Amino acid sequence: MLKPHLSTFLLFFLLQFSLSTVRSATLSADITALKALKAAVKPSTIPPSSCLESWDFSSDPCSLPRLTHFICGLTCSPDSSRVVSITLDSQGYSGTLTPLVSQLTQLVILDLGQNFFYGTIPPSLSSLTQLQSLSLRTNSFSGYLPSSIGNLKSLQELDLSANSLSGYLPNTLFSLSKLTRLDLSFNNFSGQLPKLPPNLQTLAIKANSLSGSISKLSFNGLTQLETLELSANSLVGVLPGWFFQLPSLQQVNMANNSLIGVEIWKPDKECSELVAVDLGFNKIEGYLPVNISEYPVLASLSLRYNRLRGPIPLEFSQKGTLKRLYLDGNYLSGTPPAGFFAVPGGVAGSFGDNCLQTCPASSQLCLPSQKPGSVCKQMYGRCAWINARRAVAVKPQARDGDENSA
Ligand SMILES: *[C@@H]1O[C@H](CO)[C@@H](O)[C@H](O)[C@H]1NC(C)=O
Ligand SMILES: *[C@@H]1O[C@H](CO)[C@@H](O)[C@H](O)[C@H]1NC(C)=O
Ligand SMILES: *[C@@H]1O[C@H](CO)[C@@H](O)[C@H](O)[C@H]1NC(C)=O
Repeated sequence: MLKPHLSTFLLFFLLQFSLSTVRSATLSADITALKALKAAVKPSTIPPSSCLESWDFSSDPCSLPRLTHFICGLTCSPDSSRVVSITLDSQGYSGTLTPLVSQLTQLVILDLGQNFFYGTIPPSLSSLTQLQSLSLRTNSFSGYLPSSIGNLKSLQELDLSANSLSGYLPNTLFSLSKLTRLDLSFNNFSGQLPKLPPNLQTLAIKANSLSGSISKLSFNGLTQLETLELSANSLVGVLPGWFFQLPSLQQVNMANNSLIGVEIWKPDKECSELVAVDLGFNKIEGYLPVNISEYPVLASLSLRYNRLRGPIPLEFSQKGTLKRLYLDGNYLSGTPPAGFFAVPGGVAGSFGDNCLQTCPASSQLCLPSQKPGSVCKQMYGRCAWINARRAVAVKPQARDGDENSA
């Protein structure tokens, strides 16, 4: 009788012992930080059966199994001693981000996205040297991006989009040498683009108040950059020729800025992967950049609503990869190459709202209608405009050596 009883007792004791070992496993500094994190969220914004609701500190956060407490929102290291990720659900949590989050020094992922967190981003975040992914997107954070962000040496993804952040972008961003994705879109950052982290693949700072011009200082050495989204800012100046030669570039959107010119050099290598370029709604002057037709896989080009003049180059109509071409809202003149109209459905887009002397009204490409003659006369000068019209009247396909003109 005694023997089995003792062994049962021992087993029970051992079980208790091991449970209690697990129960007190989480480092106390981590527990303090988690408590502070929850305490900074207004209780009225923590709904029943949300992750934060289940953060009940009568139990140890990392102890297993987590059936009734700490059900979601965090994961711990395999030995249950450290919190390694916090990924809150999107429940409308409203509160500030506690500076004590800096105690979670083994944190690899911090994601508070799509809630109503407000206040500033605590500079103490810089203690999280293991952090690989930080997302505070779609919240109400305000104030500056602290320059101590540069200490997050492990960071690969930083998403602060759709907040109310402002001020200059810190130069320390450059020291984030592992960062591949940076999204700061829909904030109110101002000033020039700083020197950018060297391994970026995706950079999005859409809809901010960035000013200044695109400088080599920012983009030097960005050999991995594939996607650049800088639309709806206040960028000025001329987009320089080296820009489209960045070797990994695929998509560029700088629509809705105040660029006044674009230089395009021929691609450096046959292997340029540039697919889509949107420079619409700027103040770009001059002629259409013929060199862009040399980019081997370019499929989409928008230069709509700029101040471009002169003819649509024949090279554009001969570029088989081009599927979308928006040139509307400029002062383009002459006759579009007949090649555009030879294959129905060949290219989508628009040549409308220009100064084209002829454009077959039967083609979708020619909608909407051209600018009034008075506007074009003002652009080109009265005599030049009248002479151009005469030339077209005499020889409609004069500029276009296409087979359709015969
Ligand atoms: C954005 O910041 C600029 C100053 O840099 C300020 O003039 C402007 O009002 C701000 N816009 C918004 C929407 O806060
Ligand atoms: C640019 O502005 C126009 C007109 O305000 C708007 O229709 C368009 O969506 C904007 N495009 C981008 C990429 O911001
Ligand atoms: C086309 O590219 C070449 C070299 O890549 C450059 O020298 C030339 O100026 C460019 N032409 C235009 C019109 O920009």
